[in-house]
Amino acid sequence: MERAPIGVDPGRPNSARVYDYLLGGKDNYEVDRAVAQRMLSIAPDTRTLAWFSRQFLVNAVRLAAKAGVRQFIDLGAGIPTSPNVHEVAREFDTSARVVYVDYDPVVYAHCDALLARWQGVTAMSADVRRPDDVLDRLRTEALIDFDEPVAVLLVGVLHFVMDDEHPAELLARFRDAMAPESYLAFTHGSDTSDPQLIERSSADTASTSAQVVYRSPAQMTSFLDGFEIIDPGVVPVQQWLGDDLPATRMVICGGVGRKNSGRHDD
Ligand SMILES: C[S@@+](CC[C@H](N)C(=O)[O-])C[C@H]1O[C@@H](n2cnc3c(N)ncnc32)[C@H](O)[C@@H]1O
Repeated sequence: MERAPIGVDPGRPNSARVYDYLLGGKDNYEVDRAVAQRMLSIAPDTRTLAWFSRQFLVNAVRLAAKAGVRQFIDLGAGIPTSPNVHEVAREFDTSARVVYVDYDPVVYAHCDALLARWQGVTAMSADVRRPDDVLDRLRTEALIDFDEPVAVLLVGVLHFVMDDEHPAELLARFRDAMAPESYLAFTHGSDTSDPQLIERSSADTASTSAQVVYRSPAQMTSFLDGFEIIDPGVVPVQQWLGDDLPATRMVICGGVGRKNSGRHDD
C-alpha cells in the first residue's frame, strides 16, 4: 500500500494536520483532532513538545545561516507556521533561497499560496522517499546550487519513513549531493518515549500516512554518518534549546550534522 496522502481525506488521520492541531492551527479535521487528543490524554505535554521541535527548526536554520549557508531545503515542510524557514533565513540574508518540499497536496497548496510569492522561495510537491527525483528537480529547476553549501532540514519527517523505505539510504543520497560546509538537521520520535504513548499512537495511525516508527538514539545517530555531529549531539530537543526545559513523556530527539568535505567517508 502506498502510504501517502492523496487529495483530502477527512476520514483518515494525516500527519500534517495532527501536527497543525498540536501547534494550534485550524487546518485539521475531527479525525486528526481525535488522534491528537488521545495522545494528549496520555501525555498532555505533547503540545509543548511540538513547539520545542518547531523551535529546534528555527535554531537549526539560524545555526546554518550564521555559518554562511544561504540555501535551505525544508523536507516535509508541513502546513506553514510562522516563523517559517524563509523568514528566519532572511533575517541573515534577504536573498536566501528556500524550497519547501512536502508530498501532501494540501500542504503543497498552502505553501504555494502563502510562501511562494517571494522570489527565491518555492514550494515543491515531492516525496522524500524518492530522493533522486527530489534532487533532480532541485537541480533541473535551478532551485538549489549544489556547488554551494545547503541546509537540508528534516524536522518531524524521518519517523514517517518506515524501515523498509530505507531512511539511511535516502539521507545518504542527499548527503552525497551536498557541498562541503553544508548542514543536515532532523528531529525524530524516540523509542525512549512513554510505551503507552507509543502503543496508542501506533494503534491510531497504523497503515496511514501518519504512522510513526520510533527509533533509538543510536539509530538516529547513524543517520548522521558522514557528517561531523554538532554538540550536544542527537539528544531530546529540549537539550538543544536550554538547560531548564522540562522532560516530556513523548521524546523527540534532534540532531545536526555538518559536512566537512566532498567525500562522505571522512
Ligand atoms: C509533523 S509534520 C512536520 C512539519 C514541519 N517540518 C515542522 O517541523 O514544523 C510532518 C510533515 O512531513 C510530511 N511528510 C511525511 N512524509 C513525507 C514524505 N515521504 N515526503 C514528503 N513529505 C512528507 C507530512 O506531509 C507533514 O507535512
